[in-house]
Amino acid sequence: MQARFEEYLSAIDQTLHHYLDAPCDPRRVLDAMGYSAFAGGKRIRPILTLEFARLCGGNWRDALPFACGIEMVQTYSLIHDDLPCMDDADLRRGKPSCHAQFDEATALLAGDGLLTMAFEVLCDASVPASQVVAAVSELARAIGVQGMIGGQEMDLANEGKSGLPIEIIRRTNEKKTAALLTASCVLGVLAAGGDGRQMEAAKEYGYALGLAFQVVDDILDATASAETLGKPVGSDVENDKSTYVTALGLETAREIAAQYTEKALDALTAFPEHEDLSALTRSLLSRDH
Ligand code: IPE
Ligand code: IPE
Ligand code: MG
Ligand code: MG
Ligand code: MG
Repeated sequence: MQARFEEYLSAIDQTLHHYLDAPCDPRRVLDAMGYSAFAGGKRIRPILTLEFARLCGGNWRDALPFACGIEMVQTYSLIHDDLPCMDDADLRRGKPSCHAQFDEATALLAGDGLLTMAFEVLCDASVPASQVVAAVSELARAIGVQGMIGGQEMDLANEGKSGLPIEIIRRTNEKKTAALLTASCVLGVLAAGGDGRQMEAAKEYGYALGLAFQVVDDILDATASAETLGKPVGSDVENDKSTYVTALGLETAREIAAQYTEKALDALTAFPEHEDLSALTRSLLSRDH
C-alpha cells in the first residue's frame, strides 16, 4: 500500500482509539465496540474519505472525524450483518464475530453504540458547521431505509429466490454496499469544501467502486479460504443468497467487476493527483480478502 495510505491508517486508528478507549462504566458494550473496530478491517472507506479530502485540495487531517464516523458505521453494519437473525456468521475480520466473542444482546448494543457514536464523531469535525450538517445529512440518508438498511432488507428478501432479475441484485448492491462507499467519498469532498464538479466525480466513482466491491466480495465468498478471507466462505450458497455469482456464474461476475472498476477509474481522471487512488482501486479488484 502507498506510504500516504499507511499514514492515513495510523491516524484513523489513533482517532478511533480516542473514542473507543474512553472511560465508561459499565463498559462491556464499549469493549465489544472496540473489539470489532480493531479486529483488522481494511479501512477502505475511511481511506477514501481522507483521500477525497486531499484530492479536493483540503487538509486530510480535518476529515479524520468524518472518516472515523464512516468506519464506525461500517463496523456496526458488519456486527449486525453477522447476527444469527441475519447472515449467522461466527467469523469476522479473522476473529470470532462480535456475538460469538461476547453475546447476542451485547453485539446488538455494540452495533447501536457504534452507529450512534458515528454521528457524535462527525459533529466533532473542525470544519464549517454547514459542512458538518451536510455530512450528517448525507451519511444518514446513505445508511437509512432508502440506503444500506434498505439494501440489507432486500438482501434478506432475495434469499431463496432463484432466477431473480439481475436488475434486482444490482439495486440490492447499490443500496447495501455502494451507498456507504459513495458517502465515504462524498464526506471527503464535503470536509474539503470541494466544488460541484468534484462532488459529481466522487459520486460517480463511489457508485462504480461500490458495485465492483460487492461483486468481488461475492466472488471471494465462492473462491477464497476462510483463513485468508477472515470470514466464513460458501456462506452465500449456504444462506441461499442471490448474487451476481449465484445468478450469472464466476466468469461473468469477474467481467462485471472489471467493468465497474474501469468506470470507477474513468471518474477519477477528474482529479489531477489520482494515481495513488487509481492504484488502490485496481488492487481492490484482485484483492484476496
Ligand atoms: C465487507 O466490507 C462488507 C461488504 C460491503 C462487502 P469490507 O470487505 O470492506 O470489510 P472490512 O471493513 O475490511 O472488514
Ligand atoms: C454485507 O454484504 C453488506 C453490508 C451492508 C454489511 P455481505 O453479507 O456479503 O458482507 P460479508 O460478506 O458478510 O462481509
Ligand atoms: Mg449480508
Ligand atoms: Mg454477511
Ligand atoms: Mg459477502
